[in-house]
Amino acid sequence: MGVLGKVIVFDDKAGLVSFVTRKWQGICAESLDKRGCMTAALSGGNTPVDIYRAFALCDFPWGNIQIFQVDERFVPKDGKDSNYRMIRETLLDVVLMPEKNIHVVDTSWSSPDEAAKAYEKELAGFFRLQRGRFPRFDIIMLGLGEDGHTASLFPGSSLFDDTDHLAQAVMLDSKRHDRITLTLPVINHARHIIFFVQGAHKAFALKKIVEEKDTTLPAARINPVDGELLFVADREAARLLTENTYTRGEP
Ligand code: 6PG
Repeated sequence: MGVLGKVIVFDDKAGLVSFVTRKWQGICAESLDKRGCMTAALSGGNTPVDIYRAFALCDFPWGNIQIFQVDERFVPKDGKDSNYRMIRETLLDVVLMPEKNIHVVDTSWSSPDEAAKAYEKELAGFFRLQRGRFPRFDIIMLGLGEDGHTASLFPGSSLFDDTDHLAQAVMLDSKRHDRITLTLPVINHARHIIFFVQGAHKAFALKKIVEEKDTTLPAARINPVDGELLFVADREAARLLTENTYTRGEP
């Protein structure tokens, strides 16, 4: 049975971070060569912190890179749980990213729904989209939750079949916060989708997704229309995978 996407497993975090950084560099060169800029959507959470810190140490053409968010918690932008705050502290402030290149979810709106509408307008404006069209990001960076969620698409979500929006509000609980997320078709229209998965606690979800393609798990619904899907995992996250479903990454 084929796997969903390509899975590369690294013995340690350093190898994983180094690979993703090289991958970003390659996609950046390709995007600038073909389109003069690279559009990237970044996820939040903990896993990408070291990846973004590594990006910040590289001499990428930041003036030609446009940064968007995959999702955001509906919290103040300086709040401890803000994805924007994490991305700004680990990357944007370090590389002095031009403010005009930063397109984030504005959580100062009165509700998640208003914030989602404003973000959708930002997306449609930047990508000059006609109604019914989707942006085609050069790269979208995704994390994976233990429950198989990705972005802020959670199991049981009613958003799975939403093809009418670019961004949507997700009403959750106070612990996870209400969210704003890119919708599934926006993610699936990207040229390169990279999941980064670390830790034994993600192993069960990763197996269900890449080997069993269990679409009750949102991450199993990530399937690019015309692009690359790559899972980059550490050994602990890959411990339940069948040997022949992944390749070992070079350090
Ligand atoms: C968020 C993220 C979310 C994240 C996963 C994994 O806002 O939390 O966008 O989708 O990628 O929950 O989070 P960790 O990397 O912290 O395990």
